[in-house]
Amino acid sequence: MTSTRYARSAIALHWAIAFLLLFQLGLGWHMTSMGKGAAMYAAFQFHKSIGITVLALSVLRVAIRFVKPRPAPVESGVLTGLLMKLVHLGLYAFMIGGPLTGWIVVSTAKVAIPTRLFGVIPWPHLPVSHALNGIAMESHEVLAWMGLGLVALHLAGAVRHHLGGGHENVIGRMIPAVSAPEAARRAIPAALGAAGLLGAAFLSPWLLYRAAPAAPEAPASDTPVAGGSDPAAASSEAVEGPVQAETSEPGEAQTDAPASSEVAVPVAPTSTPAPEASATEAAKPVSWKVMDGGRLGFTASMSGTAIEGRFDQWSADILFDPDALAQSKITVRVPLLSVNTADGSRDSMLKGADFFGSAGTAVFRSSRIRHLGGERYTASGTLSMNGVSRPVTLAFTLHIEGARADVTGSTKLDRTAFGIGQGQWASTDQIAANVDVTFQFSARKAP
Ligand code: HEM
Ligand code: HEM
Repeated sequence: MTSTRYARSAIALHWAIAFLLLFQLGLGWHMTSMGKGAAMYAAFQFHKSIGITVLALSVLRVAIRFVKPRPAPVESGVLTGLLMKLVHLGLYAFMIGGPLTGWIVVSTAKVAIPTRLFGVIPWPHLPVSHALNGIAMESHEVLAWMGLGLVALHLAGAVRHHLGGGHENVIGRMIPAVSAPEAARRAIPAALGAAGLLGAAFLSPWLLYRAAPAAPEAPASDTPVAGGSDPAAASSEAVEGPVQAETSEPGEAQTDAPASSEVAVPVAPTSTPAPEASATEAAKPVSWKVMDGGRLGFTASMSGTAIEGRFDQWSADILFDPDALAQSKITVRVPLLSVNTADGSRDSMLKGADFFGSAGTAVFRSSRIRHLGGERYTASGTLSMNGVSRPVTLAFTLHIEGARADVTGSTKLDRTAFGIGQGQWASTDQIAANVDVTFQFSARKAP
């Protein structure tokens, strides 16, 4: 009886792939219209994982087609037979081309982010030119629509053929059953059940990912798709360049105030502008070495919730003497990809194209250090990142005891002024513009 029915492996794969494809279609359309956030990134990650699974199953399906004998084609007119062949061919193109184009989209994104299927299996990128990104995205979407149309045709064809042919039992050839007569009895309920399940698979992403801000860690891997969908992502290289011109030489008289509109000085009230350089100009600042254990942190507000993070790598060149502020100078470098908010999925979003992906190293260079009285100081200067330079003032307290200095300070930044947060993140609906930056470290006088 096997000759009238598909092999069991072919049937199992047919339905598994059909189910997953419908889920993928729903998920693809849903996820690209979700508001950005952790839920969206989890959805993207799951889309990639399921998509590659479909690719593997489809390749297996094609292989089985060559190995296991297929039942003889059902009787049909020449034209119907041709149409059926074309639809099947198109379905195979969808099953394999859909995932392949998706894989190319991910491989050609501006910022290559390692892919990890289901959060576990590292998955390589295809070695293809970034120039293909646009066309891959187009094809991916066109194939999705084509696939949906073909599935509708295929379903209509199967039902029509089944009912029209009377004794043909076409659907019975593709449903699990122990015998052909049993398959025949079960065909119509099975087809209805299958159609219901496929419809549910298509709609389920809308239930699974309801864009709650504190999204399911669910199927997340730590791999957001820098899907190339955000051409707004900053293209600029890092950063150090523009600063130099604006930074005054250490010995120079300072003229500029931190007049920036964006930059607030949190700790330092504007009160009496202290007797900064009044001290002995003869004194020479000494170099300080930052000791291990310091922290450079930030707090951002996402949908009203405070998100705490830090940068794991940063370094500072400090030339400082309270009695020689005019010659003192602080330079801080922060490789932005060392961002760490203790959440893998959020971190990879921050390391993606919309945030720090191409923002390079942030560099702060002081141009003027002032003493506000007591242990309080400010350092005004220029912060450069993502190709943008802005005046920024750090407020800090400094406690020096012998060769050791303890420093605590803060500043406020407007992330939008630096183009951090592109695409939908450029608006401040979800992530506020203001980011509080805090730092705390100890330094030792270089011998
Ligand atoms: C995403 C959804 C689907 C895909 C990708 C798909 C794909 C395919 C492919 C490629 C074949 C050809 C197998 C061969 O190489 O001979 C096939 C056959 C078949 N499919 Fe589907 N299918 C889908 C959904 C459905 C649905 C909803 C039904 C519902 C009745 C169905 C019923 C059948 C039947 C009865 C056959 C066998 C046709 C024959 O005997 O020649 N398929 N399907
Ligand atoms: C298995 C079959 C797949 C189907 C049916 C499918 C379907 C879809 C659909 C309908 C969309 C929304 C298209 C739009 O309106 O922009 C989409 C987007 C996307 N898919 Fe897939 N997909 C599949 C596999 C994959 C795979 C394997 C990957 C990556 C490994 C992938 C990556 C993407 C990406 C990155 C987007 C977003 C593109 C954008 O930013 O517009 N897809 N997919």
